[in-house]
Amino acid sequence: MLVEAANRLNIKTLVLDSAANPASQVSGHHTKDDHIIGSFQDPVLIAELAKKCNVLTVEIEHVDTKGLDAALEQNLVDQIHPTPQTIRTIQDKYAQKLHLIKHNIPVADSKDVSSAADIDRAVSEFGVGYPVMLKSKTLAYDGRGNRVIKSASEIAQAITDLGGGPENKGPELYVEKWIPFSRELAVMVARSVSGNVVSYPCVETVQKDNVCHIVVAPAQIDGLVREKARRVAENAVTSFDGAGIFGVEMFLLLDDTIILNEIAPRPHNSGHYTIEACHTSQYENHLRAILDMPLGNPEMKVAASVMINLLGSGSTLEDMESSVLGPSRAAFSVPGASIHLYGKESCRKGRKMGHITLTANSMPEAAAGTRTILEYNGLIDT
Ligand code: ADP
Ligand code: NA
Ligand code: MG
Repeated sequence: MLVEAANRLNIKTLVLDSAANPASQVSGHHTKDDHIIGSFQDPVLIAELAKKCNVLTVEIEHVDTKGLDAALEQNLVDQIHPTPQTIRTIQDKYAQKLHLIKHNIPVADSKDVSSAADIDRAVSEFGVGYPVMLKSKTLAYDGRGNRVIKSASEIAQAITDLGGGPENKGPELYVEKWIPFSRELAVMVARSVSGNVVSYPCVETVQKDNVCHIVVAPAQIDGLVREKARRVAENAVTSFDGAGIFGVEMFLLLDDTIILNEIAPRPHNSGHYTIEACHTSQYENHLRAILDMPLGNPEMKVAASVMINLLGSGSTLEDMESSVLGPSRAAFSVPGASIHLYGKESCRKGRKMGHITLTANSMPEAAAGTRTILEYNGLIDT
């Protein structure tokens, strides 16, 4: 989707990713062989990409940031956005949290842990008992780095599930106080190289099994709360260096308190709806931001929008049919529905295979279309 936006602006993009990645399939200015096939965790391949480009950016934060540092030091590339240091801080969710605390952004209480005893102690310190959320500091996304611990007897299993923890030479972990949120909100914020900032309307995200399932734009909450969320998000993003678009995930409590959950230093699932529903999409504004062009209008150009993720239900053709192609076909008959299929090579359980965005003249109209799509094959269950 980033490359699609680049194509329209005549911005030439080269992609470093594994073979058959969706981005290199749609590049308008390069053939398949121009792209670099391999891992974005490999500093040698990052150097190879940097030599061919003027500006580097990321659309996933789990990259080798030392490779990015080296590309700048060796003048292989003019600029990298966001900065490697910002990506480094954000890719370690605990370091990100410490950074946000330092900048007075409201976040959930959390504690660095390396053993079951540490977790037990942290729960006592939080003072509200179970549940708590155990999180992996790095390489977390789509709920993969999280385990809910509902009682002391579940601690050992949660550590094992997240790869063993530091005590067993596994990934670094931290534990977070449970946030009894009423809703989850998200705001996309773009900042250009010159320091101009725009933010998108506050949306509600609905997660299923820790993975984003539906996005409702704008969030159906008091407009003042939406503006408060926007301010929290802008303050958080401007506390980091570097240009680009950032996704800010937040919890809304019943008393309208807002707590920041996490930041993504890149275009974000909660901003997919902006392609059809806003004057300038998150992708175009990311490009404008990192190339220091004037930022585009982030406001919605329709009254209401809903985005539905197409998450794979498994790896068989039947799974592909029931979770991806079927709902897409159902969307053909819904006015205002735009279907995005990513061209990923294989379907897997929980894999994001595409999404559908509905634009409508009212939220009831968007909700009706959403129901038609979710009712396909009983996907509706909440
Ligand atoms: P990921 O990187 O996988 O998106 P998150 O930290 O955003 O990880 O967690 C995924 C989801 O888990 C959140 O969107 C939210 O629904 C739930 N969650 C995360 N942290 C907490 C918490 N402290 N209390 C309650 N729910 C949480
Ligand atoms: Na270069
Ligand atoms: Mg998240």
